[in-house]
Amino acid sequence: MPTFTYDGKTIPFEPGETIIKAAYRQGIEIPHYCWHPGLSSPANCRMCLVEIAPPPGQRGMMLDVLEWDAAIGDYKPRQKPKLQPSCQIPAAEGMQVKGDTSDNVKEARKGVQEFLLLNHPVDCPICDQSGECKLQDYWVEHGQYQKRMRDEPIHKPKAVRFGPSIVYDAERCVMCTRCIRFMDEVAKDPVLDMRERGNLNEIFVAPGKELTGHYTFMTEHVCPVGALTTVDFRFKARVWFLRTAKSVCQGCATGCNSHLDYDPRYNKVYRYRPRDNEQVNAYWMCDEGMVSYKRAHEGRLIEPRVKGSVVAVKKALAEAKSYFEAVPGETVAVVLSAQHSLEDNWALRELAGAYLGTRAIYATGLAEGYHDAILIHEDKNPNTRGVLELASGVRPFSSLLDDIEAGRVTHVIALGGETPADASAELGERAKHALERLQALVVIAAHEGLLAHAAHVLLPAASWAEASGTYVNAKGIHQVTEKAIEPQGASEPAWKLVADVGQALGYDTSWTKLKQVRARWTSAPTVPDATAVSPSPQASQTP
Ligand code: SF4
Ligand code: SF4
Ligand code: FES
Repeated sequence: MPTFTYDGKTIPFEPGETIIKAAYRQGIEIPHYCWHPGLSSPANCRMCLVEIAPPPGQRGMMLDVLEWDAAIGDYKPRQKPKLQPSCQIPAAEGMQVKGDTSDNVKEARKGVQEFLLLNHPVDCPICDQSGECKLQDYWVEHGQYQKRMRDEPIHKPKAVRFGPSIVYDAERCVMCTRCIRFMDEVAKDPVLDMRERGNLNEIFVAPGKELTGHYTFMTEHVCPVGALTTVDFRFKARVWFLRTAKSVCQGCATGCNSHLDYDPRYNKVYRYRPRDNEQVNAYWMCDEGMVSYKRAHEGRLIEPRVKGSVVAVKKALAEAKSYFEAVPGETVAVVLSAQHSLEDNWALRELAGAYLGTRAIYATGLAEGYHDAILIHEDKNPNTRGVLELASGVRPFSSLLDDIEAGRVTHVIALGGETPADASAELGERAKHALERLQALVVIAAHEGLLAHAAHVLLPAASWAEASGTYVNAKGIHQVTEKAIEPQGASEPAWKLVADVGQALGYDTSWTKLKQVRARWTSAPTVPDATAVSPSPQASQTP
């Protein structure tokens, strides 16, 4: 691979790659506002200027400047190297680039900062971007001057609603145009543009339109300053109180990589931010995914119940045991969940195959929904591929209903509260009647749903935000989420609850640590084929 040097460090690059992109891939940030690795580059902010040594044998480009000389009390002429925007210049073999090590670059960065802050209001204390603002960060790194402008700054519109989810503050905008380019190039909905000139310019929404659709939150995320904020996060939290966990969005089978920001003081999740992964989601997430962090608290099941009444865990396990005593094994089924992690599903499959001896394995999850060609997948479950990897031939929820209606299944242990029937009145009605016929339904779930409501015994599982887990996305990529908050109420990781149920039923289901679960499933030689009870002809692989 060809290389160039940046401040003496050797940086490899792909042919055609710009200096800033190659440095970025090596974890070196050249200061920038308008450049974004996923967008085109207009080179309008000039923050990324670098000094490039001329090729051997050639003269460098020089610039005539006038420089203030305090000793003589006048300006005097000087020449300095012409700096170049690293977001525009393709890297070349052997190129020598200077950033932090060049006084000319340092002076330029300081100048750009001063220019951008001429009219910028000093409302950092009430700005939602405070703590993660490029203007603040770069001012500390490259600015730190006394403001020279004494005039009243230009005042522009504040708190303008661009649409239902985004608010614009024109005074804070550095006109980097990232929001415009995101809507043009990624969301393919060019509703944003720039109007006026110089220090009067501002971003606006096309007349008669609003900033709506499936990717409005990303405009806020690409904004390097606090000019765009989301209605959802505005004034909810200060970022320096938040911690972050590397997570994976649970909204669909794309499995976008994300940062899950939470406040450990309140055990509360506040937002999702995209985490770069060029193989999965590049730099983006959809709106539905960005707000899905709320499921860390909404619709959560946090207490054990027996027939709807809250009980202690011990009592719930004893009830589960009583339901399964003297039951013929062939009428017992388990239901895996595409909403739960591989670890959770592995534990239930293990209980089914190695202990209960049932091969009647079904799977469930949320029904299919909207999809597009950008990110959003029609499968609204994060782990359908994972479930299919664990138990090939796993049968869908509709087959479970068939088998219950035909009396072939009378006892069920299920993971996950949600089913496709939650979204369909007709299927919901059928499912309700079928589940009422069961003699026992033990459900281990993190969220409300039809199965959870119908459960005779319900055990509250930790949600994806409360336990580390592995999810396999639609492309078959295995991705691990980190635990963010502590399990709420009496909830515990579902793989542990499965072990507890197994022990209550008299089996040696001895996994008590996450690493034991992972070690056992990765070393498991074969996956039992869930050939189930009299497979129905229409059985498909999609839960
Ligand atoms: S609103 Fe933000 S992203 Fe858009 S041009 Fe202004 S600073 Fe850039
Ligand atoms: S595309 Fe799917 S995985 Fe990605 S953010 Fe949206 S809902 Fe989440
Ligand atoms: S990043 Fe704005 S000019 Fe290069």
